[in-house]
Amino acid sequence: MDSAARAAFLRQELERHNRLYYVDLAPEISDTEYDRLFRELVDLEEADSSLRTPDSPTQRVGSAPVEGFEEHAHGIPMLSLDNAFGPEELKAFDERVRKGLSLEGDIEYVVEPKFDGLSMSLTYVEGVLAIATTRGDGTTGEVVTANARTVRGIPLKLWGDWPGLIEVRGEVLMLKTVFDELNERRLEKGDQAFANPRNAAAGGMRQLDSRLTAQRKLNFFAYGLGWVQSGAEKFESQQETLRLLRQMGFPVNELVRIRRGIEDVIEWVGEIQRRRPSLAFGIDGAVVKVDQVRQQEQLGYTSRGPRWAIAYKYPSEEAFTVLNEVWWSVGRTGVVTPVAEVEPVFVGGVTVSRATLHNADELARKDVRPGDTVIVRRAGDVIPEVVGPVLEKRRPDAERPVPPTTCPVCETSLVRAEGFVALRCPNRHCAAQTEGKLIHFASRSAMDIEGLGEKQVQRFISLGFLTDLPSIYALKDQKAKLEALDRMGEQSVANLLQAVETSKSRPLDRLIVGLGIPHVGERNARELARAFGSLSDLAEAGYDAFMQVPGTGPIIAKELELWFEDEDNRAVVRGLIDAGVNPVMEVTRAQEGPLKGQVFVFTGKLEQFTREEAEAQVRELGGEAAGSVSKKTNYLVAGPGAGSKLKKATELGVIILDEAGYLELVRPMLA
Ligand code: IVH
Repeated sequence: MDSAARAAFLRQELERHNRLYYVDLAPEISDTEYDRLFRELVDLEEADSSLRTPDSPTQRVGSAPVEGFEEHAHGIPMLSLDNAFGPEELKAFDERVRKGLSLEGDIEYVVEPKFDGLSMSLTYVEGVLAIATTRGDGTTGEVVTANARTVRGIPLKLWGDWPGLIEVRGEVLMLKTVFDELNERRLEKGDQAFANPRNAAAGGMRQLDSRLTAQRKLNFFAYGLGWVQSGAEKFESQQETLRLLRQMGFPVNELVRIRRGIEDVIEWVGEIQRRRPSLAFGIDGAVVKVDQVRQQEQLGYTSRGPRWAIAYKYPSEEAFTVLNEVWWSVGRTGVVTPVAEVEPVFVGGVTVSRATLHNADELARKDVRPGDTVIVRRAGDVIPEVVGPVLEKRRPDAERPVPPTTCPVCETSLVRAEGFVALRCPNRHCAAQTEGKLIHFASRSAMDIEGLGEKQVQRFISLGFLTDLPSIYALKDQKAKLEALDRMGEQSVANLLQAVETSKSRPLDRLIVGLGIPHVGERNARELARAFGSLSDLAEAGYDAFMQVPGTGPIIAKELELWFEDEDNRAVVRGLIDAGVNPVMEVTRAQEGPLKGQVFVFTGKLEQFTREEAEAQVRELGGEAAGSVSKKTNYLVAGPGAGSKLKKATELGVIILDEAGYLELVRPMLA
């Protein structure tokens, strides 16, 4: 056999084994044997580069970096899905479907896991992977073909019969085991760990150097089609589509089921949920799709997505683990909170080894004790928490942890203000508070000073370089001493000092967030910045003026007053202003615009934009966006999952809109 024929044979053979491994889950050869064939092909291609075709499995290791990603318009837009949050909402979906189809009987649905990864559109021309794109804005995506080639589940070439041009839709994801390994390696190297497998996968697909993508060892599942050039009639149902996709060489998940009638759908949705903790990859729900394409076409689409499919979102995930220890952490405001150290466990998409117990009362109420088997829960990106103990597994000698009476850091006696559950260290010069304040000030949500993270703050405090917020801006006077430090050097000191300088021009609202005034969040900070325009004016304003600011009620106004009256805090404000940290913002009191005087509250999930974007739009139109429903609220925009705010708005007779209704209201104003 000449080398061209041998190379062709090896390409075919390697892709066949790849398929057996990723699609059929039935490998015929060992990994070592696979590697041997692979090596042989690499050698042949190295000897004669004309043998190196784009569909060669050797191309899965990635290629040299590109400058940026090109854009590509999807043949058919990549839409999103409406959400359902409980069986009742699935039944309502089924009602809508049957009404839309004017059918009395049971509908056939396909139930699939909702993969928690990154959606991809793969275009195959004449059976060869030609373009791979991310979802982008749904109409146009970024071209990441070189990266997609490194994903072993994505066929480079299709098998059997295929249409001349076909767009295949699916999800790229990272297995939990791969994620754990990757994070372990990153931590060893001193890199930051990824928050969850989805971020690691999404980051991987957006690498400019596809060799880095290859190292992420990503997987793929196909779940549907986009544009199909001809022969589309073959794909007459979702189950048939998935069968044909599988035949063409795409991995299709084995938890996919066809179910007749919504009751059976609900049953399988529940079964996937039960299996969720033991799956090799993360899912955040199940997708229910009307099976017959003819029925899908009859139902059609809204601006958001298909009327024939819905995403059933699972509640936050829980897992069992063992509580090793309870220790007490001192926050930047002096609040002392119990923290649970647990045996690392994978839950809600990440490995959790530490979880909050909120406060001493919660700890007592939950009665969790070191050595207990406990349930931990994690919802979305929030801090994991301990739900409670499994009492049947408690050892007889397990002892209740005792809350401290003195600060674990400075040993000052702790106080508990009347009516408050929190234990507090009253010593405002406590090292833990100073450290917490500095870390918060420099953090990304506040002044975003790169190079001044937790470790560096701790180090600089212990060396006496940092004592309070203004001391950050005096670091430049210590340049020589900083450069003499271990692991610092001229360049990193220069970078750090530059980052400190840059932070002086952060907008006023970020500076206000950075001050860490109790109860003052990002939204309040924005309104305060807009109302007062500078730190000096804010500091002098006083209770009545605070009360005029949208979103500031008596509690926050009081906190602001107390904070700015305090001598130590006044010194901090003066110190910052003297150091040149005094950003000025245009004062925009009553905004002019069509929504002037109208107060909006957004709750639940929005599809078209994030809540921040929607609120920005309201403000742009002269309206006010508030965080909670009150008598002042004019409109509540409620998406799926809306809870107490919806209830309160109903009670108060506030006008309630869904997202579509809101869009209808503002659309004429945007024109
Ligand atoms: S079908 C027009 N099926 O969920 C319908 N989507 O909100 C398009 N997803 O970003 C989606 N698993 O990437 C479908 N089995 C599945 C899915 C799935 C995950 C993602 C998809 C999209 C989002 C839709």
